[in-house]
Amino acid sequence: MGAMPEEIHHLTHHLKQRSVRDSGMRTYYQGKLSGIPTVIVFSRWGKVAAAATATNLILEYGVREIIFTGVAGALHSDLNIGDVVVGKNLYQHDMDATPLMPRYEIPLLGKQFFETPPARTEAALEAAGRFFKNIKHYVSEAELAKFDIRAPKVVAGDIASGDTFVSAHAHKEHITSGLPGVYCVEMEGAAVAQVCYEFGIPCTIIRTISDAANESAEVDFPRFIETVASRYSEGIIRELYKKI
Ligand code: ADE
Repeated sequence: MGAMPEEIHHLTHHLKQRSVRDSGMRTYYQGKLSGIPTVIVFSRWGKVAAAATATNLILEYGVREIIFTGVAGALHSDLNIGDVVVGKNLYQHDMDATPLMPRYEIPLLGKQFFETPPARTEAALEAAGRFFKNIKHYVSEAELAKFDIRAPKVVAGDIASGDTFVSAHAHKEHITSGLPGVYCVEMEGAAVAQVCYEFGIPCTIIRTISDAANESAEVDFPRFIETVASRYSEGIIRELYKKI
């Protein structure tokens, strides 16, 4: 699953024996990627859209695991634009049913976050590391320079998802004050992780840092997606598939 149309676009061209089908306002590209049966789909934005897409992948296509790629705003001060975060624990930062239950707890599941399988996290970390070695094959030097991407790194860390694009310092502070260890913020990962948890299948969440989740967040966002993030998704997934 990709969080933007551009993020699945390049990958769909690598699918062999490709067929395309529309269902529930999504387009599903089915075929083989590196010989592995795969379905590629743009999740649409936000937790509900992502959960609906994940559910459809599981029920209609019978997928046995989900890998999600997209962009995220940095919460951790160590992160720069162009770095990658592989999700460890996924929180829904806007889930709050207090005083009925503790903040962040997902009703009826008794969980405040969803863990990803450590072996999948490790495989994604290694794939991103291999991608970085070849990054110039995917992203032009001019684009890397434009976004000041010099020595991008990949880290494993916790991720917060919610139905807002965080573009104000006060909002960022609100999220980090409740979840101080979280690395980045996005709008889908923890919803996909919840659906995977409920169906008992593994999920991997891979996020490229596109902004600092503050007042400068919208600057050049479309260009970053188009020229950088879409290439990261393509490259990291291709590297990951080489080792499956
Ligand atoms: N995805 C990328 N940047 C984001 C931000 N600042 N807030 C939420 N989702 C994002």
